[in-house]
Amino acid sequence: MKVEKIIAPSLLSADFSDLKNEIKSLGNTVEYLHLDIMDGAFVPNITFGPIIINGIVKAAKEFGDFKFDTHLMINNPDNYIKQFALAGSDIITVHAEALTHIDRTISLIKSFDKMAGLALNPATPCNILKYVIRNLDMVLVMSVNPGFGGQSFIEYTLEKIARIRKLADEYNPDLIIQVDGGITTNNIKSIYEAGANLFVAGSSVFKKDDRIKAVKDLNKAIL
Ligand code: DX5
Ligand code: ZN
Repeated sequence: MKVEKIIAPSLLSADFSDLKNEIKSLGNTVEYLHLDIMDGAFVPNITFGPIIINGIVKAAKEFGDFKFDTHLMINNPDNYIKQFALAGSDIITVHAEALTHIDRTISLIKSFDKMAGLALNPATPCNILKYVIRNLDMVLVMSVNPGFGGQSFIEYTLEKIARIRKLADEYNPDLIIQVDGGITTNNIKSIYEAGANLFVAGSSVFKKDDRIKAVKDLNKAIL
């Protein structure tokens, strides 16, 4: 799969009282909308669930053909995957640290005809991917400790991204390598050069007044 629109804005940093206009403010600059689901147990914060995702999916229809990229920062994700699939997610990403049977969960996501992503916290080594990488559509490398927007990028994750790129070249060249947390115009180039091809940006998009410019600036910073 080819990733052309490579910034995935995270709605976590958007104004939740005006989500429709927040999505509209992106113009046609993006393909992926990143949706951060937190349960107050896997991470120390609570956000929203499938009902709100379904509202976002309906609200966004007017403004483009988005891919809804659902990042589940929750324990026992198997219990909720069906609901997130039915809500309209296109990609469902689960955390390796929240799972006992990673292979089974990936199959469950695919049984709903959704793209399957596996997320790794900053401290989680990438060797866990060695066998399962061929069954994944995406790996999400967390470059902050999950739970909050607006944190600083953890530099050592660049090495992990590069290692995952090597694994992907060997076992799954179409794999999307997504990086999430602390991405700015100052560091996106080094993240791209390490091997990532989809970049989550919360504050770097929604905390700026001009969102179209914010996305374009991130794109330009890679060149
Ligand atoms: C953090 C979330 C991120 C967050 C990124 O746990 O997974 O998607 O919204 O926000 P920024 O880009 O501000 O670090
Ligand atoms: Zn996220």
